[in-house]
This record gives sequence, structure tokens and C-alpha cells, in this order.
Amino acid sequence: MSKILVNSNGPLHGEVSVSGAKNAVLPLLAATLLTEEQCIIESVPDLADVKVMKKMLANYGAKVDDSEEGIVKVTADTITTVEGNPELVQEMRASTVAMGPLLARCGHVVMPMPGGCTIGKRPIDLHLKGFKALGATVVESEDKVEITAGEGGLVGDVIYLDFPSVGATENILMAAVLAKGTTIIENAAKEPEIIDLANLLNKMGAKIKSAGTDMIRIEGVSRLSGAVHEVIPDRIEAGTFMLAAAITRGDLLVKNALPGHVRPIIAKLKECGVKVETVEEGIYVDARERELNATDIKTLPYPGFPTDIQSPFMAFLTTVNGKSTVRETVFENRFMHVVELNRMGADITTENREAIIPGGKKLRGAKVRATDLRAGAAMVLAGLVATGTTEVSEIYHIERGYENFVGKFKSIGADIMKVSED
Ligand code: UD1
Repeated sequence: MSKILVNSNGPLHGEVSVSGAKNAVLPLLAATLLTEEQCIIESVPDLADVKVMKKMLANYGAKVDDSEEGIVKVTADTITTVEGNPELVQEMRASTVAMGPLLARCGHVVMPMPGGCTIGKRPIDLHLKGFKALGATVVESEDKVEITAGEGGLVGDVIYLDFPSVGATENILMAAVLAKGTTIIENAAKEPEIIDLANLLNKMGAKIKSAGTDMIRIEGVSRLSGAVHEVIPDRIEAGTFMLAAAITRGDLLVKNALPGHVRPIIAKLKECGVKVETVEEGIYVDARERELNATDIKTLPYPGFPTDIQSPFMAFLTTVNGKSTVRETVFENRFMHVVELNRMGADITTENREAIIPGGKKLRGAKVRATDLRAGAAMVLAGLVATGTTEVSEIYHIERGYENFVGKFKSIGADIMKVSED
């Protein structure tokens, strides 16, 4: 098992470039199962989750060529099985995003069910509600779900999502593109990753309108073709580096970051007193020699404040003047990093879904865990300003979703290294 060691070494400075978005590339790769023609996905980040998704595509019979760096070519000319591999689904919950494409293409899919996830229950009832509305039969057992389209295939309908779930919107979108007639997804998720998926699907010949709004309209087509598509930049990685500048009171140019995708992060950093500027190459963040103050945060579906940046932002809030609050409304159990930050002296208290951060703390290095992907990033950010050495364990979580994490931090002056425990 590897660990990350971080030492406090003053303000970070320089420039860093954001990679392709993890949460965009996973559904994009799954969408390649919708056609027998080759799809080429560009700006693919080198992440553990992407490796799992490539294995998953191969498991379904697709030919995956990743010989060129950052490019994945998928040809799913034949689907050899519609049964998901339980180990891969266990490794990565987002594997369930293959349900929609397989159901649309083959009329049948068997998906093993991932166990409960640490950041909450994360059920898939809304995904299944969507498939049922398209006329599919859903049979759930303890460890898997089997979904079968009606005799004539899927048929479009109006689907109202009780919550704008990202995964459910993606799955229903991919099922509906090959359904007969019109599908309307009401209260759809509006994340940039949904727009990116719709853009690829439209290049493949789908007829999707208004992706990025809460009402997506899909006219079904009978077949899709191959396409070439570049993944959007990772807004959560961008936010993480913006916070790296803020917490160390440094300045960073976060290249390739799209300001329109990180508006709430920019707004909240500005509220705290950090200077944030949109420049041609990305976003420039300057927190040098500034008095920084508390703020209150509430996570929400896009365009609200992203739940994925909640823990890194909380690490930053431990260092500003005054009391901040963070309310998590998207996941029911996303405060596990609080225990870890408290090991470093943060003194945070929680009540239900609200955390109170007293602020003004001088954090101290400790042995902490990356309790989930983003919490891992939060621990490293805290370690950048804590006295002594912070030892972050369970870093496989970080490697699931951040490309070249340690290397990028080193390049902007962080005293950080990855060590193997043995
Ligand atoms: C995606 C992101 C994840 C991000 C999350 C919210 C990927 C691979 N992951 O996860 O990084 O934190 O969006 O922005 O894109 N829910 C239900 N029933 C369902 C589906 C979801 O109740 O059928 C609930 C979940 O339990 C959760 C909330 O809806 O409380 C949000 O989940 P969802 O938007 O589906 O997140 P994911 O797609 O899993």
C-alpha cells in the first residue's frame, strides 16, 4: 500500500494544467458501446477509474486501443456478453453507466450491484425508474439487476427524476437515443458532463436537445455511428488547484480550467477574500499576503456548489479567520474527512448534514486517511500548511480520479512524495 507524505513549505506558485474530466470520460467511454463503429475519445486522463472502464468495455466484447497517450479508440462491433463483471463493478460504482447503452443496443443487460458506498447509500432507483418508463422490465435480486426491453425495443416517454441524479440522467439519455419516438427527461441533471455526453451522442447521430437544462428532449434514431470527441477539462481538479493556491496563500495559474464550469468555487473563494481572475489560458488565483475570512457553503446539484469540492474547501476554511459552515445536501454521509481534519487540529463539529469550522487554526501534521477520492485531496491540501509531516494513507482513492497528482503538486513547489509502505 502506498502513501503520500506532505510537508509544509510555504506558498505554492506557478502554473498547472487541468486534465480531462474523470466524470465526463467514464460515461463517454460507456457510450461507445452504442455503435459497432469506432469511436475515438481524446484528452483521456490516465486514471485508475479509466483503466477499470477500459477493462469493462473489453469484458463486453469491445476492442480497446489505448496505444497512443491520452487517446482511447473503442470498436464495439460485437457485444459478446451483456453481463457486467462483479469485480469491476465492485471496484468502480460508475460501471453502472453501461446499463443504458447495453439496454439500448442489445435489449437486455445484467448488472451486478455494487455494495453500499462510503459516501452514502447511492441507490440506482432513478436509473431503473427511467428504464421502466421506456418500457423495460426490471428484475432486482440481492446481488444484481436484470433489465429487459419490451418486445419491440425501448419506447420513448416522459420521465420525471425525483432528484437530478447525474448517473440516472446519463443512463436514461444513453438508453433513449435508440428508443422509438420521443423521450423527455424532466428535472434532469445539468452538469457540464451531461452536455459533454450529449455532444458526443449527437456527433454519433443522436437527436438530443437542451442537454444542460432541466428538461432534455431526445428523438430516438435507429442507429448510431462512430465519432471523434475530446473530453472536457476536469472542473473538480481545477477547483482543487485553485484551493491549493488559496490554502497556501500562494498564486497559481490553473490552465485549461473553464471559468463557466467553476462559478460557485470562484464566487466562494472571492467571498473569502481570494483574488480570482479569468485569463486567456484559464484561471489565475492569488491569495498572497491577504487577510482571508470565513464563508458558508451549501452543496447543491449543478450549477450549485459541487459536493465534490466540499472537502477540499473545508480544508481551506480551517485556515481562514472566523467561523464557517458547510451544509452537504447531495450525499447523506460525506463528512468522513472531518475526523481526519480534526486529527490535524481543525476542531470541526458536525450536526446532521452541517459542519461548523471554527477557522484560524494552525494545523499540525498527522497520519490521516484518504476516506474517499476528494477527501484524499483535502488531506493533501491540509498537509501543505500543517506543521511537520502529514502522512496520507489509502491513496488509491486519490489515484482513481486525479491524473499525476503528486507530479503536478511537485511542479508547483509542493514538498510531496509518494512512498510505498514496504
Ligand atoms: C456523480 C459523480 C460524483 C458526484 C455526484 C454528484 C460520476 C462518475 N460521479 O455521481 O463525483 O459527487 O455525481 O455531483 O459522475 N440518488 C438516488 N437514486 C438514484 C441515483 C442517485 O437517490 O437512482 C441519490 C444519491 O444517493 C445521491 C444523489 O442522488 O445522494 C446524487 O447522486 P448522483 O447525482 O446520481 O451521483 P452519481 O452519478 O453517483
